[in-house]
Amino acid sequence: MTEQNTNRQVGDNIIDVKNLVKKFGKQLAVDNVSFEVKHGKVFAFLGPNGAGKTTTIRMLTTMLHPTSGTVRLNGYDPVHESNETRKSFGIVFQDASLDNELTAYENMKFHAVLYNVPKEIYTPRIEELMKLVELWDRRKEYVKNFSGGMKRRLEIARGLLHHPKVLFLDEPTLGLDPQTRNKIWDYIRNLNQKEGLTVFFTTHYMQEADRYAEKIAIIDHGKIVASGSSEELQKQTGKETLEDAFLALTGTQIRDEAGGAIDRMRVHRKAWGGGRN
Ligand SMILES: Nc1ncnc2c1ncn2[C@@H]1O[C@H](COP(=O)(O)OP(=O)(O)OP(=O)(O)O)[C@@H](O)[C@H]1O
Ligand SMILES: [Mg+2]
Repeated sequence: MTEQNTNRQVGDNIIDVKNLVKKFGKQLAVDNVSFEVKHGKVFAFLGPNGAGKTTTIRMLTTMLHPTSGTVRLNGYDPVHESNETRKSFGIVFQDASLDNELTAYENMKFHAVLYNVPKEIYTPRIEELMKLVELWDRRKEYVKNFSGGMKRRLEIARGLLHHPKVLFLDEPTLGLDPQTRNKIWDYIRNLNQKEGLTVFFTTHYMQEADRYAEKIAIIDHGKIVASGSSEELQKQTGKETLEDAFLALTGTQIRDEAGGAIDRMRVHRKAWGGGRN
């Protein structure tokens, strides 16, 4: 392993998780999870509501300390090497994280400056990304006046601004129409293929995982219950679609009863179109 500024060279795995545990009080949200993601792959982390997906992402991205276990992202330990870890990834959060008091353009520019993207790069890139999500004409408007879908699109554009090594997308396309979803995925796939960007995403749209993920891990009640390609998961379960395989592996019971108040509130917000879980 060699060190090269913040670009630590790692083996094949840009994400390596071993025996990861997160407890919230008595609740075991992530229960001894191990998995790895190879450089340059598109990886989907699937699971029912409350399974532990966001909690795992938060531990990978320095926002939450694990109760036990080890995590490496781009060779860095998110607990003890948080600065280097942060420079290695970009993230589109499940929850809104835009600044409502800034315009759409200012939100983009602020992020570019925060991540030290040079002006000659960010100027054309902001335009390209805002055109991609069809917000260029509305760049001077305040984000607080945007609809849920517009905010979501801006957030995705912002997450793609500083081409990181790993891009985390936590339910990136929730509530977006198929046209926008396809466009965004085309763009992400292009970055993945041209720049070797590793993509780690969660979604409840099984077709999205089926279409774009090279590897899938399924988590349920904090434990990984299966992993492999979509075809492998279908084979393992004797099903003909990823959705059927997913249901065979995780059951058909709705999870929200078991979840805590936070989950119920999220589901409530989702049901009322309140954005992104
Ligand atoms: N800060 C917290 N304090 C207490 N419990 C939490 C906290 N964050 C998450 N949990 C609980 O941990 C469990 C896993 O939650 P998590 O958000 O990781 O699920 P998820 O797989 O992302 O679900 P969804 O698909 O609904 O987004 C849930 O039962 C949730 O209520
Ligand atoms: Mg989540």
